[in-house]
Amino acid sequence: MPDSALLEISNLHVTFAVGRRRIPAVQGVSLSLRSGGVLGLVGESGCGKSVTSLAVMALLEKDTASVEGSVRLEERELIGLPYKEMNRLRGSRMSMVFQEPMTCLNPVLTIGQQIEEVLQVHQNLTKRGARDLCVRMLAKVGLPDPERVAKSYPHRLSGGQRQRAMIASALCCKPVLLIADEPTTALDVTVQSQVLALLQELQSELGTAILFISHDLGVIAQMADRVAVMYAGRVVEQGSTAELYANPLHPYTRGLLASRTRLDDLGSSAGRRLPSIQGNVPSPDQLPEGCSFGPRCQYCDGRCQRGMPELTDEGEGHLVRCIRAREIA
Ligand SMILES: Nc1ncnc2c1ncn2[C@@H]1O[C@H](COP(=O)(O)OP(=O)(O)O)[C@@H](O)[C@H]1O
Ligand SMILES: [Mg+2]
Repeated sequence: MPDSALLEISNLHVTFAVGRRRIPAVQGVSLSLRSGGVLGLVGESGCGKSVTSLAVMALLEKDTASVEGSVRLEERELIGLPYKEMNRLRGSRMSMVFQEPMTCLNPVLTIGQQIEEVLQVHQNLTKRGARDLCVRMLAKVGLPDPERVAKSYPHRLSGGQRQRAMIASALCCKPVLLIADEPTTALDVTVQSQVLALLQELQSELGTAILFISHDLGVIAQMADRVAVMYAGRVVEQGSTAELYANPLHPYTRGLLASRTRLDDLGSSAGRRLPSIQGNVPSPDQLPEGCSFGPRCQYCDGRCQRGMPELTDEGEGHLVRCIRAREIA
């Protein structure tokens, strides 16, 4: 593992207990993110992306979720950290933005009250200092008339404005790590590209590392320098963005890439079905024998059903979990 890793997730397991069912949602995920880097985490809905990120932030319900493995931020182990210390890190060293800002914005407080509270708790600022910094931060995320926005309640803002306000709140203490979980999925295309451009700008200005989660490979390609592909609770492929898109090795990654709607293809392929992966992501408590992707894989044969393939290095940190990767490449 590189010495400079800012975030090091090793062999993370998350199991939910729901009644008598045990749901192994994340099974042995290892990821590493360097300081100032952007790691994309991609996969269809239900693959375990959000659960992985919530485990990093210690935001899973303790009663139902059991978390094992190691999560180190700046070489400090986070798993098992007392609530108070974790709370101090959240918001200051690490923070998170979600698909739906209203899940973390309080509807009965103004935007200003919420951001100023974060600043007062973590930065020891006076009320006046917090107000000034809040307004500057709202201006930085491109909100026109930031003074007015600070006095507004969240519901008075548009979806795109709320997303900008949440980003301001997440970045106001200059965290070293931002986790962005589908931050633009709910926005329409124009606003989505503005918010992505904003995140890129802030990332390079503040040097914040981002764990960027999306089901959209196009968005990931734009944002991330490294990518990890998740399927059914495991990483199935990982590598630099350039390498992975140019030379995808796992049949799942290839399927995701092939099923992307490309605007430049739409004209010529009108009426033609886009290739897509048949079937659905299995539920974590009903995984098939052997390779989890087997039942959906056109290359699956008897060998694939004998056990879960290991994640192996095919060269220069390009990892893949498929015993046939070399044959079919
Ligand atoms: N609190 C929970 N209790 C039980 N199962 C859960 C819980 N949260 C998530 N899961 C299950 O874990 C799996 C991964 O979910 P998630 O991480 O949200 O997927 P993704 O973000 O990739 O769409 C899914 O099968 C989901 O149903
Ligand atoms: Mg999710």
